[in-house]
Amino acid sequence: MAKKKAASGSKKAVQVGRPSALVDTRVIYCGDNLDQLKRLPDECVDLIYIDPPFNSNRDYEVFWGETREKRSFADRHASTQAYIEFMRPRCVELHRVLKKTGSFYYHCDWHASHYVKVMLDQILGENNFQNEIVWKRSSAHSDSKRYGANHDTIFFYTGGGSKWVWNEQFTPYSQEYTEQNYRYKDAKGRRFRVSDMTANKPGGDVSYDWTTPDGRKVKPYKGRYWAYSKEKMKQMDEAGQIYYRTTGMPMLKHYLDEMPGVALQTFWDDIKPVISGSKERLGYPTQKPLALLERILEASSNVNDIVLDAFCGCGTALVAAENLDRQWIGIDVSPTACRVMAKRLRDVCKLPEDEKLWRIGRGFVVRDLPWTEKQLRKIPPFEFENWAVIALGGIPNKAQVGDMGIDGRIFPVSATPKKKEGHLAFMDDWYPIQVKQKDKVGRPDIDSFEAVMMREDRTKGFFVSFDYSADAMTEIDAFFRKTGKSIIALTVKDILEEQIAYKLA
Ligand SMILES: C[S@@+](CC[C@H](N)C(=O)[O-])C[C@H]1O[C@@H](n2cnc3c(N)ncnc32)[C@H](O)[C@@H]1O
Repeated sequence: MAKKKAASGSKKAVQVGRPSALVDTRVIYCGDNLDQLKRLPDECVDLIYIDPPFNSNRDYEVFWGETREKRSFADRHASTQAYIEFMRPRCVELHRVLKKTGSFYYHCDWHASHYVKVMLDQILGENNFQNEIVWKRSSAHSDSKRYGANHDTIFFYTGGGSKWVWNEQFTPYSQEYTEQNYRYKDAKGRRFRVSDMTANKPGGDVSYDWTTPDGRKVKPYKGRYWAYSKEKMKQMDEAGQIYYRTTGMPMLKHYLDEMPGVALQTFWDDIKPVISGSKERLGYPTQKPLALLERILEASSNVNDIVLDAFCGCGTALVAAENLDRQWIGIDVSPTACRVMAKRLRDVCKLPEDEKLWRIGRGFVVRDLPWTEKQLRKIPPFEFENWAVIALGGIPNKAQVGDMGIDGRIFPVSATPKKKEGHLAFMDDWYPIQVKQKDKVGRPDIDSFEAVMMREDRTKGFFVSFDYSADAMTEIDAFFRKTGKSIIALTVKDILEEQIAYKLA
C-alpha cells in the first residue's frame, strides 16, 4: 500500500532519525507490556491506542479466536474481575508514559466496557474522559434471544493537560442532506447552497443600491443593510460567488466541494471490519481495520508524534503510524504476533528490518524476541509450537485442539507442480511437523508420531523438541528400516544455531 499522505496535523518536516531524545521509536518489543513499559520514561508518548484481549491472563489461546461468550454470569464476573486486575497496573504505566498533551484510546467491547470505564476514570481522571466511541463492527445478525451485539466501544481520554492535539475529522454529507441543502448547480455542475447577503447593522459602507448583471437596482430587505461593502460585493461578483434570485436579490454561494463535511460524531458505522475477503487481512483473528487506526491517529496526533500500541497484535496501529508519518513503538507478548507484524511492516510499508539502517533512522527493529533456549522453555506451548513450525518454514495448524497429532505442515519447494499439473497439486505433497516443548522426547512420543505418518501416508516427518532419549532415537532408526519413512529429529539448539528461525522470520 502506498504511503498515505499525512492529511492532518501540523506540517512539521518529517525528520529522519530519532524524534525524541527520550525514547527509541520504530521498535517492536516482544514481552509483557508491564515489564516493557517500566523501561520507558515518564511522559514520552503522544498517543496510546490499546486493544487488549479480553481475559488474557487466563487462557492464552483466546487471542487466536475467541468464540462467543457462553459462560454463566458468575464465571463471567470472575473473569471480568481478573481482567480488570490484569489491566489496572498496565493502564497505570500507560498513563505514566503518556504526555499531558497526549491522548489515550482503549478499545474493548461489552464483555468489560463498563468496568474498564470505571477503572480508566480512576487512573486517568474522570475529567479527562472525552468520548465513548461506538464502532459498528459487524453487520446485523441474530443473537439467540437477545439483541444482536454488533459494536465495539473505544474510550477516548486525554493526558491531563488543558490542551491536547486535536485535528477535527469530517465525514461526507449524506446524499439526502446534499440533495436537500445543496439544491443549486452552476454551469460546470458544481453543487452549491446559498445564504443571505444582508445583515442587521454591520456598519460602514452598507446602505447602497446594488446593480444586478442585467442592470436592475436592488436594495437590502426592509430594515436591513448589505453585509458587505460595495467593493467587497464587486469582488465576490467577479469571482462568481454570487447567485441572483429571480427578484434580483444577490445570494452568497457555498460550494459543496469546498465544505469539509460533517464533523465526526461518536457513532462510527462507516469503517468496515477486516473480514475474509478484505485485502488487508492477515488471518490474525482480532485484526482491526487500518482505516479505524488511521482515523484515530489523524485526529489525535501530528506528523512525527510518537504513537504507542502496547497490545499491538498484527501491528495495525504501527502500519497506520508509518502511513501517516508518525513515529511508533509496539509491544506484544507473543513472539508470533511480533513476527507477523515485522513481516507486515516489511511487506506493506517497505520498511527494512535492519539494525544498521534503524540506527540512521531508516528501518525498524524487533527487540527481546525469545532467541535463547532458556526463553523458549518459558513461552506458552502454543507459542512454542508456532515458533518451531515457522522456524522450519512450515505452516502452523490453525486448530489447537483436534490437530490429529500434527502441529504444522511443510510444503517442500521441490513439490511445486510441473506445468501440466493442476496448480494446487503440490498441496498433496507435504511433511508433518510435531512439536513438543519437552526436555526429552521419549519413545511413546515417537510411536504416536509414527502412527500419524502411517495414517497420512507421509514419507518424511519433522519432530522438534529440546532433546531425545536414546530409546526415541533407536525407534526412529527402526521405523526407517521397517517402512522406509524417515523422521527428522531436530532440537531447539539445532534450529537456533543455524539461525533458521531468524532467516525465516
Ligand atoms: C486483540 S489483539 C490486538 C490486535 C491489534 N489491535 C491488531 O489490529 O492487530 C491483542 C494482543 O495483545 C497481546 N497481549 C496480550 N497480553 C499482553 C501483554 N501482557 N503484553 C503485551 N501484549 C499482550 C496479544 O498477544 C495480542 O496480540
